[in-house]
Amino acid sequence: MSIENLKSKFNQLTLESKDHWDYRGNRKSERDYVHGFCTYPAMMVPKMQREILEVCLSQLENEHPILLDPFAGSGTILVEGMLQGLDIVGIDVNPLAILLCKTKTTIINPESLKQHTITIKNEITKLKETKILKHSFEGIEKWFTAQAISDLSILRNAIIKDNDINIRRFFWATFCEVVRIVSNSRDCTYKLHIKEQSDIDSYDKQALELFSKTLDFNVDKYLSFYNTLRATGKLNKDGSLYRGKIKIILGDSIKYLNHTKQKFDLILTSPPYGDNHTTVSYGQYSVMPLRWIVCADIDEAFDDKLLSTLYGIDNVSLGGKSTNQSMTKKRKSVLLKSQTLKLQSEKIQSLAAKQVNKLVAFYSDYDLFLSAISKKMKPNAVSVWTLGNRQIAKQEILMNNIMIELCSNYQLSLVTGFTRKILNKRMPEVSAYTGENKESQTTMTREHILVFAKEAQANE
Ligand SMILES: C[S@@+](CC[C@H](N)C(=O)[O-])C[C@H]1O[C@@H](n2cnc3c(N)ncnc32)[C@H](O)[C@@H]1O
Repeated sequence: MSIENLKSKFNQLTLESKDHWDYRGNRKSERDYVHGFCTYPAMMVPKMQREILEVCLSQLENEHPILLDPFAGSGTILVEGMLQGLDIVGIDVNPLAILLCKTKTTIINPESLKQHTITIKNEITKLKETKILKHSFEGIEKWFTAQAISDLSILRNAIIKDNDINIRRFFWATFCEVVRIVSNSRDCTYKLHIKEQSDIDSYDKQALELFSKTLDFNVDKYLSFYNTLRATGKLNKDGSLYRGKIKIILGDSIKYLNHTKQKFDLILTSPPYGDNHTTVSYGQYSVMPLRWIVCADIDEAFDDKLLSTLYGIDNVSLGGKSTNQSMTKKRKSVLLKSQTLKLQSEKIQSLAAKQVNKLVAFYSDYDLFLSAISKKMKPNAVSVWTLGNRQIAKQEILMNNIMIELCSNYQLSLVTGFTRKILNKRMPEVSAYTGENKESQTTMTREHILVFAKEAQANE
């Protein structure tokens, strides 16, 4: 990898026009291929990551690099890695993210997928006329109308009947989207907030039709992905297998990285911007769909205890552990590693003491993560981070500066960086802390992209 060339390539693109990375107009951020199916909070702009990946690959010497996304989310980077024919590794602590990653990266025979689609539609029609066992879990009647429970139970029963796990995952991913749309939770926030009773009473969503339409849409998206992979030689001769290796792990990326012996050439990712409770609640967003799914269909490591409260997934995510009075000395030591974090937390301490504790807890975990990942990067390995700056007490927390300072402890040096304006993102302003009065504010209107290289003669 020529780091100097990499830097000048990125800088050249950034200088090309002031909104190069914004992806507007005819370079718009359309979600092509399987990127288009199923929504997930804070999804990346696929075309921007494609361009970033192409620049990195043009400078990489290793012809068979392994691409890692340690916060894989809906799988944007993994799909882009497949379009380039790379070996890919994705990790996420959220089982919904893992379902999406596995669904999007699994090669299914197109004819078989079409056939199973016809079969499930017939099955749904049959089940409509049959008395079926309705699904149940604690709180189901709060979050779903009687009509939704009945329709979703039909869909669930029909999916379970399919005997092919890959097809079932494809159906579950489609089903998740329907669960979200027909639930009684407001859709203006990622957190679970019950709708006004009048809105619940006027429920008119048709879950069965929605499933059928969404399924057709997803099949089309999959076919365009499959055809492109095949046409560009990324599949084997008969089109039944992807030529590269794919590994998708449900779990905490710190734990995984501390254990694995594998080393990586290239990392592209967008980490959380803060703990899930006070920024984007990936867990709350996912818990309702997950309560409907058969856990074992997603991953054998999926323990359904994670779903016993609405906060289980958020609690095991970065910065999610309780911090109440017990902020330990060890966790506070992260303040010594970043001057920006130290100054910012002192500044907001008097306005938002509780949030400062959460902020420090998050960065303490994030620092452990950086320590773990830096040890698994080959010399000269490149990592590209898409970051957002959140606000606390009306102060923007400068994650980009904090990241640079923390990385300097781990032989990760900044190559270059650029900024883009965010388009088409549902703002998490409802959940963003803005001080004790929690008044709503617009946050995260810009994203920062930072490129780091692992120093070539770094100590192991
Ligand atoms: C900004 S999102 C990634 C979105 C993704 N780039 C996409 O395009 O969909 C951050 C992800 O980090 C995950 N996460 C948070 N803490 C984690 C941890 N300790 N280990 C692994 N994943 C974690 C969250 O579940 C979430 O999916």
